[in-house]
Amino acid sequence: MIGRLNHIGIATPSIEESVKLYTEVLGAKSVTPKFSMPEQGVWVCFVNLENSQIELIEPYGENSPIHGFLAKNPKGGQHHVCFEVADIIAARDEMRAKGATILGTGEPRIGAHGTPIIFVHPKDMGGVLVELMESPKDAHH
Ligand code: CO
Repeated sequence: MIGRLNHIGIATPSIEESVKLYTEVLGAKSVTPKFSMPEQGVWVCFVNLENSQIELIEPYGENSPIHGFLAKNPKGGQHHVCFEVADIIAARDEMRAKGATILGTGEPRIGAHGTPIIFVHPKDMGGVLVELMESPKDAHH
């Protein structure tokens, strides 16, 4: 069911500091501007790599879902992995049929790439928070 690895989500207390790490230390050449997703409680910035992306996420607002993660991991750390799927509803239903727990209402939300996403509970995914994202219709992104 899963297609390509779209990105790895990294939570950070400071996107600016993390961008310095990826560009100045690791030598990444391409970073998107930071933008907010208020309904999801995060600031987001993508580091573009040849074969994938790193999604840097920083808390936005008091109710950000990543405050808890940063309380446990004050320097930040790996938060989730995101795989592409062809059809988000079919993927959700298949995951549920296999016993996995979909976070939230289970209704897909629009993610940072403008396509529908869901998150699967890490307890059913070997301890890894898994984001499933419908592939953008224009193959190049
Ligand atoms: Co993500």
